[in-house]
Amino acid sequence: MAIEKHNTPMLDQLEQGPWPSFISGIKRLRDQHPNERINKVTNDLLGQLEHSYETRKGYWKGGTVSVFGYGGGIIPRFSEVGKAFPESKEFHTIRVQPPAGNHYTTAMLRQLADSWEKYGSGLVTFHGQTGNIMFIGADTESTQSFFDDINDYGWDLGGAGPCVRTGMSCVGGARCEMSCTNEHKAHRLLLNNFTDDVHRPALPYKFKFKVSGCPNDCQNAIERADFAIIGTWRDDMKVDQAEVKNYIAQNGRQYYI
Ligand code: HEM
Ligand code: SF4
Repeated sequence: MAIEKHNTPMLDQLEQGPWPSFISGIKRLRDQHPNERINKVTNDLLGQLEHSYETRKGYWKGGTVSVFGYGGGIIPRFSEVGKAFPESKEFHTIRVQPPAGNHYTTAMLRQLADSWEKYGSGLVTFHGQTGNIMFIGADTESTQSFFDDINDYGWDLGGAGPCVRTGMSCVGGARCEMSCTNEHKAHRLLLNNFTDDVHRPALPYKFKFKVSGCPNDCQNAIERADFAIIGTWRDDMKVDQAEVKNYIAQNGRQYYI
């Protein structure tokens, strides 16, 4: 069934230029997704956003939404103009923790996407600045259903609010020759130890751990975290000078430089 699309002249301008456009992405969900619920939700989402641009005001307010047993992990968003845009009037974000080193299989990604298209808007960010997968746009009831679904096959919510937040680790020893420590073990130990403090906010303020395997700090742990874990080399540098000489003899000085 065709839906009545909102006019979005201001948003349309954001589709111009060389960069991928989040507006084109949302329009794809509106125009091409086979699920009519998703078409309608994203249509009203675009309508509200255009309205915000016209009036220069944001119309999302917070609230309290959670899943059973958890005190955080959901960012509640209720629309103040829900009467005009009813399909997206509840548009909560669900934060889900990434695996250590962001190791996914395509099967995992497809399974997550299928669950999200069943319950949510179809919009996802891999990953937000916090490191979480951000599943953006579910109503209050579907938030619980989506969580139950993905929790059943092994995923857990991330942190939100004054709690220990979602940790991240770089790809590290799995693929990177710079690695000086076991990033994924550190991440896993922290996660196991602090899981209670992630899910039940009990601190006066948020607290973040991020793990980088070497001082290149691909996780930006220094900037992003309160507790940055950076692998370092603990001994004198060890260089096999004979091997370096061989290498230069073979490949030439220019290549080496
Ligand atoms: C000087 C003030 C602020 C600083 C220094 C700051 C810093 C940060 C940092 C470092 C992160 C990334 C955390 C991580 O990687 O885990 C972050 C995330 C975030 N901050 Fe702030 N922030 C400030 C103010 C605010 C304000 C005023 C808001 C909202 C009104 C806000 C909303 C957010 C949100 C929503 C995220 C998560 C984004 C995502 O995951 O995609 N921040 N902030
Ligand atoms: S922080 Fe270091 S070990 Fe980790 S991915 Fe970056 S370069 Fe490699």
